[in-house]
Amino acid sequence: MGRLRIVEDVAVGCDTDVRERVEDPVASAAQGMRGVPGWLADRQGRRLRYLRLSVTDRCDLRCRYCMPEEGVPASDRADILSFDEVVRVVRVFQRFGVRTVRITGGEPLVRKNLPELVRRICVETGIQDVALTTNATAMAKLALPLAKAGVRRVNVSLDSVRAETFSEMTRGGDLRRVLAGIEAARSLFETKINAVVVRGMNDDQLREIVEWAWSKNILPRFIELMPVGEGAKLGRERVVSVFDMQVGLADLLTLGEAERRLDRGPAGYLPAADGSSRKVGFIGAVTDNFCHRCNRVRVTARGEVRACLASPDGFQFRDALRSGGNDEDVAEALEKALFGKRDGHAFHVPGTTHHFAVNMSQTGG
Ligand code: 5AD
Ligand code: SF4
Repeated sequence: MGRLRIVEDVAVGCDTDVRERVEDPVASAAQGMRGVPGWLADRQGRRLRYLRLSVTDRCDLRCRYCMPEEGVPASDRADILSFDEVVRVVRVFQRFGVRTVRITGGEPLVRKNLPELVRRICVETGIQDVALTTNATAMAKLALPLAKAGVRRVNVSLDSVRAETFSEMTRGGDLRRVLAGIEAARSLFETKINAVVVRGMNDDQLREIVEWAWSKNILPRFIELMPVGEGAKLGRERVVSVFDMQVGLADLLTLGEAERRLDRGPAGYLPAADGSSRKVGFIGAVTDNFCHRCNRVRVTARGEVRACLASPDGFQFRDALRSGGNDEDVAEALEKALFGKRDGHAFHVPGTTHHFAVNMSQTGG
């Protein structure tokens, strides 16, 4: 555990009572393992707070920037972490300072008995903030069981509110099902929608997405197309910058410095021009490099830790767990991932290719 660093907590927000100055990183990391709360940081001093947990690499849609038409070979069920394994992993990460778990996929709602997994995470790990990122095709049915299990916040991926565009971008998705899912979600969860903006596909529709979302009291957010995996194959010409998105929405918004919630991820928010409390979020995945304050780590459905979404590097702990291993094996994979965590992506640097091999349906965004 020697390379792990636990740093003094100087943040405002939850858990400020947890203050620990650590002289001996080896001992303190071990203490973390014994249940004394601590913060983990990587070599850059970036603290680990947030886990994106992929529970399946399957998906019922085929978004053009995420999956190839024929899909990606889905993992055998035996290769996917069991509920017991997932709960163990989350428990270990919680001890190392993770306070938010966002469940992703593939499409997480295709994982059988997902509400039961959520319930177990809430009851057995001490994590109180469980969120979900979904395409919402199955949300109408699952919203209530998920709410009862403990989900409080949901992000729905929705790239268009026009049926034809939606079907085109998702290769066959049915917008009506998704809208029914969003209705169910917004009645039970704090709900946002995320739209990936792709030039020539939906970049002419930002205004109608904002107006639709605001009419439903939902916060819309726009994401720059990332050149990873399938997104890279679409080509750089397809990327619309946050700057251009904001200019296109200028008469709806008060332009200026975006408001950021440092504890809540990379989005910047601009308020509505009309003085209401409505907002639009923007995630400048390419043009606004936020890696220096990245507080997250990812676990894939196959049991690997990945520190950065722009990197295909993963550290697998599943096999060790299955051959008699324990929490230490999970911690070791976390240690390796954090130690090797990249300083940042290089999406903005032409010719950088290491992120082409990333598969978003595995890393869950
Ligand atoms: N660029 C930007 N966002 C992407 N997502 C998937 N692939 C890409 C990409 N290449 C988004 C999905 C979803 C989240 C999990 O990741 O739309 O909102
Ligand atoms: Fe499925 Fe989400 Fe990827 Fe679309 S972006 S194919 S909904 S995992």
